[in-house]
Amino acid sequence: GEVAALAKSAVAFDPSASDLPAMAESPEQFRGQSRLPRFAEPLRYDLVLRPDLAACTFSGSASAAVAVSSPTRFLVLNAAELAVDRSSIRFQDWAPTEVAQFEEDEILVLGFDRELPLGEGVLAMDFTGTLNDQMRGFYRSKYEYNGEARNMAVTQFEAADARRCFPCWDEPAFKAKFKITLEVPAELVALSNMPVVKETVCGPLKTVYYEESPLMSTYLVAIVVGLFDYIESSTLEGTKVRVYTQVGKTSQGKFALDVGVKSLDLFKDYFATPYPLPKLDMIAIPDFAAGAMENYGLVTYRESALLYDEQLSSASNKQQVAITVAHELAHQWFGNLVTMEWWTHLWLNEGFASWVSYLAVESIFPEWNNWTQFLDETTSGLRLDALAESHPIEVDVNHASEIDAIFDSISYDKGASVIRMLQSYLGAERFQKALASYIKKYAYSNAKTEDLWAVLEEETGEPVKDLMTTWTKQQGYPVIYAKLNGQDLELEQAQFLSDGSSGPGMWIVPMTACCGSYDLNKKFLLKGKTDTMHIKDFAASQSGQNFWIKLNIDQNGFYRVKYDDELAAGLENAIKAKKLSLMDMIGIVEDSYALSVACKQTLTSLLRLLNAYRHESDYTVLSHVTSVCLSVNKISTDANPDLSSDIKQLLIKLLLLAAKRVGWDPKDGESHLDVMLRSLLLIALVKLGHDETIKEGIRRFHIFLEDRKTPLLPPDNRKAAYLAVMRTVSTSNRTGYDVLLKIYKETSEAQEKSRILGSLSSCPDKDIVVQALNLMLTDEVRNQDAFYVLGGISLEGREAAWAWLKDNWDHVVKTWPSSSLISDFVNSTVSPFTSEEKAAEVSEFFATRVKPSFERALKQSLERVRISARWIDSIKSEPSLAQTVQQLLLQEF
Ligand code: BES
Ligand code: ZN
Repeated sequence: GEVAALAKSAVAFDPSASDLPAMAESPEQFRGQSRLPRFAEPLRYDLVLRPDLAACTFSGSASAAVAVSSPTRFLVLNAAELAVDRSSIRFQDWAPTEVAQFEEDEILVLGFDRELPLGEGVLAMDFTGTLNDQMRGFYRSKYEYNGEARNMAVTQFEAADARRCFPCWDEPAFKAKFKITLEVPAELVALSNMPVVKETVCGPLKTVYYEESPLMSTYLVAIVVGLFDYIESSTLEGTKVRVYTQVGKTSQGKFALDVGVKSLDLFKDYFATPYPLPKLDMIAIPDFAAGAMENYGLVTYRESALLYDEQLSSASNKQQVAITVAHELAHQWFGNLVTMEWWTHLWLNEGFASWVSYLAVESIFPEWNNWTQFLDETTSGLRLDALAESHPIEVDVNHASEIDAIFDSISYDKGASVIRMLQSYLGAERFQKALASYIKKYAYSNAKTEDLWAVLEEETGEPVKDLMTTWTKQQGYPVIYAKLNGQDLELEQAQFLSDGSSGPGMWIVPMTACCGSYDLNKKFLLKGKTDTMHIKDFAASQSGQNFWIKLNIDQNGFYRVKYDDELAAGLENAIKAKKLSLMDMIGIVEDSYALSVACKQTLTSLLRLLNAYRHESDYTVLSHVTSVCLSVNKISTDANPDLSSDIKQLLIKLLLLAAKRVGWDPKDGESHLDVMLRSLLLIALVKLGHDETIKEGIRRFHIFLEDRKTPLLPPDNRKAAYLAVMRTVSTSNRTGYDVLLKIYKETSEAQEKSRILGSLSSCPDKDIVVQALNLMLTDEVRNQDAFYVLGGISLEGREAAWAWLKDNWDHVVKTWPSSSLISDFVNSTVSPFTSEEKAAEVSEFFATRVKPSFERALKQSLERVRISARWIDSIKSEPSLAQTVQQLLLQEF
């Protein structure tokens, strides 16, 4: 059993893995290696951990059954920020003669005075460490119980931080079984991946023994120790599912529990494999770096991503909880049972979990129109991947800090989108069947991207590998230029880049087209640079006004389309005549926006196109239209200050019809999506400076202050009201800021806190923005929540925010060391700039400060600044912009 499984995983090893000779002479030879050698591999860990919640330290003992496969004197494993007790180390009965801990490489090398016997032996050692406050490794989180501050102990090991908790072979392909034991204060809840087998109490302490886990990767090991309440339910198969919350708050866990149980049932069918563990716990952690983490059998969440309260949460909070739960539970199969062989294949985890989460949520909440909302993911993937500083889905990574940096929109959103593209090409049923056999084939083991393609090819007979390799090994994506030439539609592909250049990339593009009706459609692979599609039979039934051709039906493909003027005009008419699917309407406005940014079409024509959406009333479409409107508003402020207030008025006018329809007050029996639409439009109108909406927001805010339960300001509309309040705050009139801050301090609801944090920094007054930023440095704001403040910074506050970041840089890097958090700081302060001079200034500041954890984020941000600068130059020379704006403003709706 075990050795066979081991052999299986050894075969799957990446060739880039360290091939260091087992016969090294000294520990020094292992220095500078970011991958572990594989001549010794763990089979089973026996782990005892004793956290001290008061002192914020822990001690532990680990013993690992190790299989030695070639003659060696050395054992090499990972350890970081741990004090290993050298005198405790034994392999069988032997103490090492050399012990070297290379902090830089995060490895521990043990040298023995003799060759280790081939086969199985046991390595044991004791160690101590700190329960840190950095939300990684074994860390402490703070909560309040009966008005008293308390600590809990929590783990977050992905991507490479298990080594901060115990010495281990901390790479995903070293799967082993884990038997965990905890010694903790008797009154606390202590959880791990597996169920408890035995508990003994000794004075104030208890020892909790957990069942041995199946083969799993180190990054999925988890422990939580603190005070919690739980609610419980079970799947159809009888798996116990629990949601743990702060004491007294279990009612907020009901929604997630329900979604969790339904998702498990659904995934079991979809993957044709039962949930692999005896139990599943989901738990809300007050300090949490990411949104959630799929630890095997013990999934951890930040509170806002797990808890839902009928009275206090918004419809969008509800969606976020559902998507997050479905995503993490999808990982229990895709990620935990079958694990990527190395982080290069991270997208197999994240892209798939994201894609499958939409599948689950679509089936649980069909009225949410979830697959149309999926285009949000595709959009962010397309936007990021249009940068020269993007990266391929499959990307070389070695050092731990590089790994963290690829948890980005490429791995998640592009990953999920190319899966959707492939599924639509192969057909849903064939695709599902093949996925199920992939899961079976690689269960309890590891796989690479190519392993998945091989299974799909075998099951479907289609050239999956050739097709998909162009999408996963190559960064970027194509724009397809479509030109009508008589009865022919001429197509040409070129890599799309937002800086207006075209890259060298070439793709095998699954093309679809329909003409005049969705019933008249075609499907083919574009393999070369150009191709021609005959549309004779298509076009015959079409004429004049009604003639339109839409490529990339329902935006199933990860590419953009640039239509010639005639085709574009046809589509504009089709939009006005409501002939197109929601997804296609989204695709057209997104492509058009992206082409404008790249100066491949004018802002003038983008505004004309936006005008075609003025009667639209669907949330999913309008969410893309508003996002484009807000970007246009920002760029026009810098590009054409004289015209920008007219452009603002025009954008307001475009959104106003729909906004008037939904109003401020919820209507009986209205749909989930209309609730989302109301909040979307109110927020957009406030951001665009629409006086009436701002006044009404402030009026309702005052009513809300008198009566926090007033139906006049339900949670869905609060963000809009808070933003409205902050529009009028200034240093001389700061009541609004102080009142919001007071509400922030009073509430214990994470979602409400995040709404307020995202509003405080949106003030046009730069001194107030600085105050909001300074708030992040105080105990009032948890480090996990900094990005809400950063995400809200007003355009007017960007200079002040940048100056603030420079002033506080040393503190910021120390406090937010994780890649995603520090990248947020850089991205949100740098990206809003729009001039070459600013880009140069930023580069200079970071020349001596850049680190691998945010290097790519910095380059991407700088690229965005330069792209904006170029766009502005081009807008300045658009001859008919002013005239078009006036014309559209005068037009009656
Ligand atoms: N595996 C990730 C959590 C993670 C992210 C660990 C980054 C280490 C570094 C988890 O499955 C995840 O993807 N969480 C998402 C939520 C999801 C709904 C997209 C997150 O945290 O945002
Ligand atoms: Zn994930």
